[in-house]
Amino acid sequence: MAGLRLHEKKTLMALRILNGKASVEDIAEKGGLAHAAVMRAALTLSEKGLVKIHEKRWSVASLSSEGEYYAQYGLPERRLLRALLRLGGEASVDEAVRESDLEAEMVPIALGWLKKKNWGALRDERCTLNVEVEPPPGEDEKLLANIFEKRSVKVEELSEGLKQVLETLRKRNLVEIEEKVYRELELTEEGWRIAKKGLEIAEEVTQLTPELIVSGRWRNVKLTRFDVTTPGPSVYPGKTHPLQQIIQRAREIFLEMGFTEIRGPLVETAFWNFDALFQPQDHPAREMMDTFYLANPQTGRLPLKRLVNAVAKTHEDGWITGSKGWGYRWSPEEAKKLVLRTHTTAETIKYLATHKKPPIKVFSVDRVYRNEQVTYKHLAEFHQIEGIIVDKKATFRDLMGTLKTFYTKFGIEKIEFWPSYFPYTEPSAQAVAYHPKLERWIELCGMGMFRPEVLAPLGIKYPVLAWGGGLERLAMIELGLDDIRMLYGNNVGWLRRTPLCL
Ligand code: PHE
Repeated sequence: MAGLRLHEKKTLMALRILNGKASVEDIAEKGGLAHAAVMRAALTLSEKGLVKIHEKRWSVASLSSEGEYYAQYGLPERRLLRALLRLGGEASVDEAVRESDLEAEMVPIALGWLKKKNWGALRDERCTLNVEVEPPPGEDEKLLANIFEKRSVKVEELSEGLKQVLETLRKRNLVEIEEKVYRELELTEEGWRIAKKGLEIAEEVTQLTPELIVSGRWRNVKLTRFDVTTPGPSVYPGKTHPLQQIIQRAREIFLEMGFTEIRGPLVETAFWNFDALFQPQDHPAREMMDTFYLANPQTGRLPLKRLVNAVAKTHEDGWITGSKGWGYRWSPEEAKKLVLRTHTTAETIKYLATHKKPPIKVFSVDRVYRNEQVTYKHLAEFHQIEGIIVDKKATFRDLMGTLKTFYTKFGIEKIEFWPSYFPYTEPSAQAVAYHPKLERWIELCGMGMFRPEVLAPLGIKYPVLAWGGGLERLAMIELGLDDIRMLYGNNVGWLRRTPLCL
C-alpha cells in the first residue's frame, strides 16, 4: 500500500509474525522499534483502518518502603508474639517491647493486631498469649511475602479473598496500588490483506547529510516523508525572562536613537530625589506612605554648598529665577534623608549637575521604589524608562516626536499626549497608550521641560526635555497582560507560553 511509512510497515509486519494480535511491548521488540514509535504508528494505522487498538487497564500492587521492611523482618505483631513466646507466654509491656526490639511507635500497632488476630491480649497491664506455639503465617503475611518476591502483582488476577487481604495491607500503608494501561494491537481484515502480501521494508533516510549530497547517494536512498502537520512534543528551552527582553529592547531602541545610557544608585538623598527637582519639602509624595526612607543609615551627604544654597533659595523665594518659590524655610536635614529612589529623574538631574553643555541625549532603564499597595496595575518595586535631551533649540514638539518614535519602535500604535502636572516641568504632559485588552488608556510616561527653578541652581542655560515612565506598563501592553503582577509571579505556565522572541 502506497503511503505507508517505515514504522507503520514494520508494525504491520511484526503483527503478522505475532499472529495478528500482540501487545505494544511485543511489537516493539519484534519490530525493533521504540515503544513510542509503535504507539504513533498504531494511531495512524488505526486511522487508516488497518489495526484496532485494544486498551486494558489494570491495577498493580507493590510494597511501600514500610511494607518492604515488614516483608523482611516480620510484621510488628509477629515480632511481639515471638518475643512473648521467648518470655514464656506472658510479660509486662516494657519487657515484651525490650525483648522484641520494636520501635516505640510500632508498639500500639503490634498490640492492636495481636489482639485482632487473637494471638494474645493485654490483661491487667500484662501481655498474655492465647497460643503456646507460633501460629503459621497468615494470608496477609503470605501475600506480603509474595509481592516482595515478585516486586508487584496484578490486582485483577487475585482471588476475591486475596483482594480483601490486599485491601487490609493497603489500609496499613504497606501496599501501594497504581493504575496501568496495557495496549494490544490487532490486524483488521484489510490489515491482514496488506501484511500477508508482504511489505517491502526499505530503510528510509530521515536526515539528509552533506555526505549523501556530495556522494550523490541521495538519488538511490528512500527519503522519509514527514507529516509536518502532526503535533510533536513541546520543548521548553531556557530563555530570557520576558521582562528582561523588554528592558533590552528599550535599551536597544534608545541606543538606535543616539542616546547614551546612565545609571545611578538605588539609594539617593532626598536632595536629588526631590529638592533638586523643586519639590517642596512638605510635598505629599515625600511622606512615608509614598516613599521608603532608610532606617540605617538615615542620612547622606549633600553636594557642593553653592548648589545646595541655590536650591534652598529657589525653594524659599525663587532666587534669581523670577519665581516666588514655595515660601517656606528650607531644611538641609530634610534634604539629607536617604530614600529608595522613587523615580529615575533623580539620576538625570544629578547628571545635569555635572554635564551642562548641549548636546546631551541620555537615558536610563532602572529600578525604582514606591510604598504602594500592590494591585493589578501597581507594584512597589518596578522599572522606569527615563531620558533627557539638552539642546539649544529643543522644543516641546521635539519631545513629543522623540517619544512617539520611541514607543512606535516598540510597536505601540495608539499614542496620545495629555496635559499633566509635575512640580519640576512646565509645560507638562503625559503620554498615554490604548490598551486593547483592558479597553482603556494607560499612562506610559510623564514628560515636560524642566522649569527655570530646576535649571537655574544647576547653572543650565538651555532647554531640557525630560520624561520618565513605567516599564512594566509597557510590558503589559506588549505581552497582553491585564495584571502587572504576572511579571513577577514565577508562573511557569505563563513563562513557557510566552514566545522566545517577542
Ligand atoms: N518622574 C516622573 C514620574 O516618576 C516622570 C517625569 C519625568 C515627568 C521627567 C516629567 C519629567 O512619574
